[in-house]
Amino acid sequence: MADNKLRICVLICLISIISASSVIPSATTFVSSNIPDPFGKLSSTFYETRCPLALATIKATITTAVLNDRRLGASLLRLHFHDCFVQGCDASVLLKDNATFKGEQNAFPNVNSLRGYEIIDKVKYILEKLCPEVVSCADILAVAARDSVVALGGPFWLVRLGRRDSTTANLNAANSDLPSPLLDLKGLIAAFGKKGFSADEMVALSGAHTIGKSKCSAYRSRIYNESNVEINYRKSLQETCPRTGGDDYLSPLDTTTPDIFDNAFYKDLSSYKGLLHSDQQLFNGGSGSTDYKVLAYAKDATLFGLDFANAMIKMGNLSPLTGYQGQIRKYCTSVN
Ligand code: HEM
Ligand SMILES: *[C@@H]1O[C@H](CO)[C@@H](O)[C@H](O)[C@H]1NC(C)=O
Ligand SMILES: *[C@@H]1O[C@H](CO)[C@@H](O)[C@H](O)[C@H]1NC(C)=O
Repeated sequence: MADNKLRICVLICLISIISASSVIPSATTFVSSNIPDPFGKLSSTFYETRCPLALATIKATITTAVLNDRRLGASLLRLHFHDCFVQGCDASVLLKDNATFKGEQNAFPNVNSLRGYEIIDKVKYILEKLCPEVVSCADILAVAARDSVVALGGPFWLVRLGRRDSTTANLNAANSDLPSPLLDLKGLIAAFGKKGFSADEMVALSGAHTIGKSKCSAYRSRIYNESNVEINYRKSLQETCPRTGGDDYLSPLDTTTPDIFDNAFYKDLSSYKGLLHSDQQLFNGGSGSTDYKVLAYAKDATLFGLDFANAMIKMGNLSPLTGYQGQIRKYCTSVN
């Protein structure tokens, strides 16, 4: 008899434990269904309840597209950077110009240079069918950048989510705050310092140039006027980037493994094969203040991956719109 009572008790206890544990998550689900959670803060689980398939959808679309056109991965990483450095990660970079609105796309660092807008529009189109007006364009950019890096063999990081989209853009800030390839080390440190990054973090973020391409117009003065360029590298670049004309001719930023997200960019720099003037500024033959970081990353790919991932999370946190700020655009290209 006592045995039976115990059995019933155990059974009841089990049932109550199981039902309690299943009640708690569904209760939070209910409470947070249309209020940002935690309110006003980015969180890696933001879409788990609001649009459970959002991240898988972005990943599938981006990975397929990037494996089909590897440069697209580089272009998407750069798009997120150019978004975040101008009034924060708010998708301001995606707003198209029209008769009455002048956004950032025609700013000097962006015009004829930024790529990848169409794939973002494609992802947005799919997500609007799946979860209308839930997933922000700013979050799509942040996740697409991460998924691109992963697709090209780079590190993974958890993307904090819950950014909302701006109703404005800032052409002047795009022209002043996006770094020029003609900057010297001091100017690079200042440009990133303005956004809260240390010189070390600037060196880590610059490792993004281990993928993607640059136009002749951005590196011409380096290959004709500078002495710290490896001689054979200079020769091969001069063959395709003439002194005049050919402005749009492309060369890989990392000459060693142009389509793989690895640490070869830093090895290039340490052998004077930086394509951009600004990139080679990070390594100056042992006497520069950031040389030790370049050498450390050239030697240790894992260290680079960790530092890059952390710096990307920090970049993704640049003054996001959250809570009731901004909006969730229906089309990334225009304000609702
Ligand atoms: C350190 C200062 C930086 C300067 C001066 C700079 C400048 C440039 C320039 C001039 C290009 C070539 C654009 C063209 O010719 O159309 C480029 C490409 C690129 N940049 Fe940067 N950049 C910097 C930092 C960054 C950062 C922090 C990231 C991302 C975290 C990044 C990601 C990229 C990528 C991936 C490309 C290749 C894009 C493509 O192939 O479409 N850059 N950058
Ligand atoms: C090299 O430097 C000179 C003097 O600063 C400048 O006039 C010239 O345009 C530069 N050449 C290239 C190809 O950028
Ligand atoms: C121009 O673009 C802005 C920003 O996206 C938008 O608010 C506005 O409605 C557009 N105007 C026209 C005429 O399309």
